[in-house]
Amino acid sequence: MRTLAIHGGTPVRAGRPLPSALEASGRTIGPEEEAAVLRVLRSGMLSSVWGTEVAALTEEFAALIGARYAVACSSGTAAVHLAVAAVDPEPGDEIIVPPISDMGSVTPIIAQNAVPVFADVEPGTGNLDPDAVAALIGPRTRAVVAVHLFGKPAPVARLRELTDRAGILLIEDCAQAYLAPVRPGGPLAGAVGQLGCFSLQQYKHITTGDGGLVTTDDPELALRLRRFADKGWPRETGERAYLSFALNYRMTELVGAVAREQLRKLPAVVARRRAGAAAFAGGVAGLPGLGLPPDDGDHVYWYFPLLVDGLDEAGLRRYAAALTAEGVPALGGYLARPLYAEPVLRQPLTYGSSGYPLRGRAEYPDGLCPVAEDLVYRRLVVVPWNENYSEDDVDDIVAAVTKVHTALVAS
Ligand SMILES: Cc1ncc(COP(=O)(O)O)c(C=O)c1O
Repeated sequence: MRTLAIHGGTPVRAGRPLPSALEASGRTIGPEEEAAVLRVLRSGMLSSVWGTEVAALTEEFAALIGARYAVACSSGTAAVHLAVAAVDPEPGDEIIVPPISDMGSVTPIIAQNAVPVFADVEPGTGNLDPDAVAALIGPRTRAVVAVHLFGKPAPVARLRELTDRAGILLIEDCAQAYLAPVRPGGPLAGAVGQLGCFSLQQYKHITTGDGGLVTTDDPELALRLRRFADKGWPRETGERAYLSFALNYRMTELVGAVAREQLRKLPAVVARRRAGAAAFAGGVAGLPGLGLPPDDGDHVYWYFPLLVDGLDEAGLRRYAAALTAEGVPALGGYLARPLYAEPVLRQPLTYGSSGYPLRGRAEYPDGLCPVAEDLVYRRLVVVPWNENYSEDDVDDIVAAVTKVHTALVAS
């Protein structure tokens, strides 16, 4: 067996880094985006309050996702904040969330004085388990945030049935899942819940560095989203008034113009990611003790998650470190710990020393979501995926996973 690079062997890929979302090699920024930026700069109008780019972006985005309205904002976290603010919880109300996501799915709930309640996830995907959600819906629950983790749609049809029955709202966090059909030929992620949140952060399928969008079919929710992103100002009336508590989360015209160009490239980005992922999956299928993500033609592969059998926490981290040393950057567990184990929630560190609204209301002990903990601590290894991986790149990733897996798991 070939010696692993972490043990001093020759890496599968040495001196030829894979395309990365942190560099031009792994992004689709080109002359179109350059022209868009110049177009805005030369117009002299950089604000979306009076400009045309963000207005056009929201129309184009809503049409692409299949929603009536889209509202632009400054980040994915801001998008979730807009959505939670549109839900308008009473202080101390509860919103159900999964424990495997970016913290941007969760802290907006606390910003609106509501309490995040963590539901466990499905073992094969890390997406919310509808049965776990059903068991947690109570008199104070106002919404569920379903994250489409790594680009695999969460079971939002079932979640929507549950939330409708309970008379509460479903927010989809689609930051990692652009153009993902929730079932073959069905609606896209972001068009099933009442609110769909997207991120344009550097690592996402398309990027403006930072930026966000929220979709909805409901004119009343759309108005609340717009007002919350714009200081409660009713622009449509022409009156200077501040009608509700709100912040300034507006997207600039520069960001909007770049986002429009990125949007045009999105279908090809998703198709290339899916093609590369299919080739990779074919190359590693059959390695004993390696689970691959279920794909019913719906996965859009933000990251490629691997499910590894038989490791403890140290072994999982070592597996990821070994892949990284072979030239394939990987993360063991995706997160260091489930979100509820982070200091902000557990201590909690919120408003001054009050711990509001969590202290005395929410307990976030170890063991809260055992399936999520098993994934983060013992089973999940993620490989960032990219539309610019060539066939050779994918072959190298197959070779690296085969080498590491054979040495550490299946030898
Ligand atoms: C699932 C998910 N939700 C929310 C966010 C927050 O988005 P942003 O970083 O744009 O604030 C991210 C990514 O960063 C994410 O992956």
